[in-house]
Amino acid sequence: MQPIYFSHSMYTRKFHMPSLGLALVLLVSLVSPISSCTEQEKRSLLQFLAGLSQDSGLTSSWRSHTNCCTWEGITCNQDWKVTDISLPSRGLEGSISPFLGNLSGLSRLNLSHNSLSGGLPLELVSSSSIIVLDVSFNRLTGGLHELPSSTTTRPLQVLNISSNLFTGRFPSTLWEVMKSLVILNASTNSFTGQIPTANCVSTPYFAVLELSFNQFSGNIPHGLSNCTVLKLLSAGHNNLGGTLPEDLFNVTSLEHLSLPSNWLQGSLDGIKKLTNLVILDLGGNFLSGNIPGSIGDLRRLEELHLGHNNMSGELPTALSNCTNLVTVDLKTNMFSGELSKVNFSNLSSLKKIDLLRNHFTGNIPDSLYSCSKLTALRLSHNNFHGQLSERIDNLKSLSFLSLVNNSLTDITRTIQILGKSRSLTTLFIGLNFLHETMPEDDNIDGFQNLKVLSISDCSLSGKIPHWLSKLTSLELLFLHNNQLTGTIPDWISSLNVLFFLDVSNNKLIGEIPAALMEMPMLKSDKTAPKVFFELPVYAFSPSLQYLMPSAYPKALDLSINNFTGLIPENIGRLKGLTFLYLGSNKLSGEIPEAICTLTNLQVLDLSSNHLTGTIPAALNNLHFLSNFSISNNDLEGPIPTTGQLSTFPSSSYDGNPKLCGPMIVNRCGSTEAGSVSIVSTKEIDTEVIIAIAFGAFFIVGVMYDQIVLARHFG
Ligand SMILES: *[C@@H]1O[C@H](CO)[C@@H](O)[C@H](O)[C@H]1NC(C)=O
Ligand SMILES: *[C@@H]1O[C@H](CO)[C@@H](O)[C@H](O)[C@H]1NC(C)=O
Ligand SMILES: *[C@@H]1O[C@H](CO)[C@@H](O)[C@H](O)[C@H]1NC(C)=O
Ligand SMILES: *[C@@H]1O[C@H](CO)[C@@H](O)[C@H](O)[C@H]1NC(C)=O
Ligand SMILES: *[C@@H]1O[C@H](CO)[C@@H](O)[C@H](O)[C@H]1NC(C)=O
Ligand SMILES: *[C@@H]1O[C@H](CO)[C@@H](O)[C@H](O)[C@H]1NC(C)=O
Ligand SMILES: *[C@@H]1O[C@H](CO)[C@@H](O)[C@H](O)[C@H]1NC(C)=O
Ligand SMILES: *[C@@H]1O[C@H](CO)[C@@H](O)[C@H](O)[C@H]1NC(C)=O
Ligand SMILES: *[C@@H]1O[C@H](CO)[C@@H](O)[C@H](O)[C@H]1NC(C)=O
Ligand SMILES: *[C@@H]1O[C@H](CO)[C@@H](O)[C@H](O)[C@H]1NC(C)=O
Ligand SMILES: *[C@@H]1O[C@H](CO)[C@@H](O)[C@H](O)[C@H]1NC(C)=O
Ligand SMILES: *[C@@H]1O[C@H](CO)[C@@H](O)[C@H](O)[C@H]1NC(C)=O
Repeated sequence: MQPIYFSHSMYTRKFHMPSLGLALVLLVSLVSPISSCTEQEKRSLLQFLAGLSQDSGLTSSWRSHTNCCTWEGITCNQDWKVTDISLPSRGLEGSISPFLGNLSGLSRLNLSHNSLSGGLPLELVSSSSIIVLDVSFNRLTGGLHELPSSTTTRPLQVLNISSNLFTGRFPSTLWEVMKSLVILNASTNSFTGQIPTANCVSTPYFAVLELSFNQFSGNIPHGLSNCTVLKLLSAGHNNLGGTLPEDLFNVTSLEHLSLPSNWLQGSLDGIKKLTNLVILDLGGNFLSGNIPGSIGDLRRLEELHLGHNNMSGELPTALSNCTNLVTVDLKTNMFSGELSKVNFSNLSSLKKIDLLRNHFTGNIPDSLYSCSKLTALRLSHNNFHGQLSERIDNLKSLSFLSLVNNSLTDITRTIQILGKSRSLTTLFIGLNFLHETMPEDDNIDGFQNLKVLSISDCSLSGKIPHWLSKLTSLELLFLHNNQLTGTIPDWISSLNVLFFLDVSNNKLIGEIPAALMEMPMLKSDKTAPKVFFELPVYAFSPSLQYLMPSAYPKALDLSINNFTGLIPENIGRLKGLTFLYLGSNKLSGEIPEAICTLTNLQVLDLSSNHLTGTIPAALNNLHFLSNFSISNNDLEGPIPTTGQLSTFPSSSYDGNPKLCGPMIVNRCGSTEAGSVSIVSTKEIDTEVIIAIAFGAFFIVGVMYDQIVLARHFG
């Protein structure tokens, strides 16, 4: 959006521009009897300085015997009157002095990105000279004051008070006085009450109202229809209720309407009049009804966000008339019918389509494959069926593809087709292809750039296929909930950047391979590069989302298989590991001492195996452990009564008849109690350990939930 306000200072500043400006200044200083700012202006500025508790060196420039027009951050006009104060990002602390209101030529004041506290002086808001006032990103508190109704019209055009700690209701008198107001930005504060809306008859230039991230409530007030130049209305993340008022649809100048995460109801039926809309964001509300066919009249529309609502019905054919669409987000609604109702052929600007959790049926429409700029396509949790078309080859920029939980068939063909994509980085295709066989064709090739691959929950038979060994960019691999047989192949350690492997609930056999103890990423503390997913990945509930692969923990999940033999001593090499699940297998032997050196471990599950021997004392060194189970084994001896291990409930230990301890049924006899040599060999203060354990539980407990839930991602 072009700034449409005019500022005196922008104009006058031109006179100060390099050579001509200097010449003029010199000329003026020769001719004019005055050659400095007035003492009164200087005093006002020094009052401001005095109000700061941290001025970050401003004092060295703001010296009282010098011309204040030469001070840092100050600009004057040719009459030596201060017109601009620009001190953003200066680390200023303290309060904003009302004396700044005495600078009668001040037109622009920019104090953004500091740590200023206290209130915003009424003298500045109601100044008779200030045109642009930006105090955003500070710690200002209190409310905005009502302006005395006798106040004459003020010239303020831009008021940016966003990202502060303001509270209270918005003064209704603001509009009566601020007849020149163009932009009001009050986002990210704690304002309450009804949202302020201009009766635009008195503020005819009003163009931008940004109120998101506050606590405004009530309905969207009537009275907007006279705002004939309003371009942006943004009030997302508040507590607004009711329906979209009729006269909102009369504000035909609107280009950007953004009201996500409120409690709005009703339908979109009136939307057709807003033919200038470029961005429409009404996600996270309770809107119902369908997308009206008249949406096709919004020819300029680029972003359509209606996710997380209660909308239903088929998509209108007319959507294909919105040829400028870039983003279509309809996730988590009740839309149904065939997607092929929409001809996507003409939507050549489309980059992201997110239809997660709806009831769409039929085939994936062929016309989608003409959207050659598409980077992200998520059709998961719908009722699409059939086979993926080879034409998906056309999507040369497709990076994110999620087809989870549909009824797609022929996984071999699907993998063959998708493997050719050089752009694909994230592929979720689980909960499809039920009871098919894992493609083992070693000619499957490609996936050069694939970082995330999930083929979970398909009940696939077959083995862990060799073609996976060629996916050298792979960071996360999910193969859980299938019926894969055979062993974990030795090439696994050649996947140099893999740090999350879930093969749980299959029918894998053999020993835990030595190769797994050589996984480079698990051996080091190195983290994967932070690259965002094209779409956030949801883990079970909409509130849990992963924004990038590197946000996942380093994890190895081999549980619920038929692994036999010992837990390798070399497990001690996997220093980076945070989650280790080996439960429900047939592992035997003792718990290797080396496991105690995996000090990043937050989850350790060895339950339901055939482990014997005593509990290694040094397990108490795993200070971050928040979830621990050795239940249902054949372990013996006492459970440590101090340290980290003593903080876990009996369920962590149950089902080991030869174990004894205060938290389980089987109490230790006197002889065994004597052998409490098991307590940590290190002489660490017990209370400290408990405190750490407690803390870690809270921080890490959340992450544990995430991995458990992460199994049903979309
Ligand atoms: C300057 O501003 C202060 C605070 O607003 C006010 O008390 C004072 O009267 C003003 N001084 C002049 C000379 O205007
Ligand atoms: C204030 O300064 C900051 C930092 O330079 C800048 O981003 C912002 O646009 C300025 N505010 C106005 C209203 O020009
Ligand atoms: C405050 O808002 C104004 C008007 O939208 C804008 O020009 C300015 O850049 C914003 N300030 C900051 C620090 O972003
Ligand atoms: C509101 O101000 C914030 C900075 O505080 C800025 O990031 C945002 O772009 C502004 N919004 C508008 C609509 O000017
Ligand atoms: C719009 O302006 C007209 C003329 O000034 C006025 O009669 C009408 O009440 C206004 N409408 C609203 C909704 O404020
Ligand atoms: C919206 O505008 C139409 C004409 O353009 C007018 O008839 C109608 O009364 C207006 N509605 C509201 C609620 O202002
Ligand atoms: C969602 O819409 C259906 C009808 O389509 C309605 O029965 C239901 O009450 C709505 N739910 C909510 C939470 O608004
Ligand atoms: C697209 O717009 C044209 C012209 O307004 C119209 O004739 C056509 O029916 C629309 N297409 C659809 C699919 O609604
Ligand atoms: C979709 O639109 C394209 C271009 O307008 C056209 O060639 C094609 O026949 C249409 N497809 C269908 C199924 O209507
Ligand atoms: C689709 O694109 C074709 C070719 O660019 C054009 O002839 C046709 O009118 C467009 N259809 C719509 C509905 O915009
Ligand atoms: C799969 O989708 C169906 C609806 O199509 C839904 O009922 C089911 O809960 C989904 N399954 C999972 C595991 O999310
Ligand atoms: C493990 O193997 C036994 C037979 O040896 C079989 O009965 C059992 O179902 C297998 N368990 C799993 C999880 O594959």
